[in-house]
Amino acid sequence: MGDGDAAKPFTALILAAGQGTRMRSSTPKALHDLCGRPLVGWPVHAARLAGAGRVVVVDGPDRALAAVVGEGVETVVQPRASGTGGAVLAAGAALEPGVPVLVCAGDVPLLGPVVMGELLEAHARSGAAATVLTTVLDDPAGYGRVIRDADGQVARIVETKSGGDATAAELAVNEINSGVYVFDSTALLGVLPRLSADNSQGELYLTDALALLRASGAAVGALQIADRSVALGVNDRAQLAHVRALAQRAINAAHMRAGVTLTDPANTYIDVHVAIGEDTTIEPGTRLKGATVIGRGSTVGPQTTVIDSRIGDGATVRVAWMEQATVGAGATVGPFAYLRPGTVLGEGAKAGTFVEIKNSDIGRGARVPHLSYIGDADVGEDANLGAATITANYDGMAKHRTRIGRRVRSGVDTTFVAPVTVGDGAYTGAGSVLTEDVPAGALAVARAAQVNVEGYALRREQPTEVVGREQEKASDDRSEDGLTDGDGSGEATLPAS
Ligand code: UD1
Ligand code: CA
Repeated sequence: MGDGDAAKPFTALILAAGQGTRMRSSTPKALHDLCGRPLVGWPVHAARLAGAGRVVVVDGPDRALAAVVGEGVETVVQPRASGTGGAVLAAGAALEPGVPVLVCAGDVPLLGPVVMGELLEAHARSGAAATVLTTVLDDPAGYGRVIRDADGQVARIVETKSGGDATAAELAVNEINSGVYVFDSTALLGVLPRLSADNSQGELYLTDALALLRASGAAVGALQIADRSVALGVNDRAQLAHVRALAQRAINAAHMRAGVTLTDPANTYIDVHVAIGEDTTIEPGTRLKGATVIGRGSTVGPQTTVIDSRIGDGATVRVAWMEQATVGAGATVGPFAYLRPGTVLGEGAKAGTFVEIKNSDIGRGARVPHLSYIGDADVGEDANLGAATITANYDGMAKHRTRIGRRVRSGVDTTFVAPVTVGDGAYTGAGSVLTEDVPAGALAVARAAQVNVEGYALRREQPTEVVGREQEKASDDRSEDGLTDGDGSGEATLPAS
């Protein structure tokens, strides 16, 4: 054997061109999400880890899968969903004599590289033409049943998805076909053309290849595994939810083994690509999705969703929603914060309660503690934005940027009408609406001056004391003060005390 054979131990063929009608979805079944990776991505990933020389995915005619299977994965198109046998036929040209092929249904996501390796090994050891992975289920409904002959050899597999293929005795068998097999490529290619669609579904069943191999005098082996969960197929959304719970449990267990505290693992949802550093605590009700990366010694949650975001070491993120945002080391977020795409919170910075930030750079140590919307802004280091500071970043036509310098202190209820620039160390008065730039070190006050109406309260009370005698005069007085509606009706326009 040359080097080429050593680098090409087996070909993985993943069948994913089925319509997935039981999902009742406009999205192909293979693209449904399972913990951050599409269903079809699971066997692809496992096959690569198991050392597949080639990974070939059978796609449907609309080629929906080509974009998601990843680099180095080949796709072939099955022109019509004619059954699992038709799917393998469509990939016939990818099968090389002398290279065993691991055929794997694209909807059996929990089958990992270890079991794939065990199946390949069992196949190589026995010298059979085909080796099928089986398990025993309490409720085998819908699965193909493994029918063994008197000496225990696999005679054939009968289908049970729709009635008519299996007898009552065969339906009583609870050893099921996992949908994963290793074949001798040449032997498989030899029997594929003899598959018939003369069955209850009118499809070419790959499973019939086993009986055809037996009939040709070849041996068919089986590897029965005790861990039945790895063979679970996903045909409908209930099965998807069941498999998701198992996949999530495994992901969470791996994080805990790697030094992450999950306060309530059953109530923590972590996608498969998420990375978390040691001594970080994930509190209940938290979802970490996509390409999220979290550092060491941080606390995330409770009730927090983090999507495609980065959180540094020693940060605290509580009751928050983050999407494509970055939180620096030691920064604090929430409770009740919304960090939208393009938010970068510097080291030790704070986005506090009822704070929304979008496309903004919040400098190291800067604080946005309460009730603010900061959009399209650069906030300098150690600035402190008072409660209810708002950037008016949109003028109805376009977005504009707000530039706030270092150590700026905005008073509560400051509105920055963008584009506007505030120099380092400047202050703004409470309630200011800033439309002009503020020089460094200045105090900007942009609000109406306060007016105190002397004796107002007393004059309001007078009419009741002078009822009947001076009523008319009192009414006139109030009109002069501008405190009535001006039509002489006596209705005050200022709020009653
Ligand atoms: C199949 C097996 C069954 C086994 C079960 C395990 C057959 C006939 N039956 O049944 O014995 O117990 O898996 O989960 O093989 N596909 C194609 N092209 C097609 C049809 C299907 O690529 O024309 C793909 C599907 O996308 C899917 C896989 O093959 O990923 C299995 O197809 P599915 O229809 O789900 O087969 P089951 O009825 O589950
Ligand atoms: Ca299936």
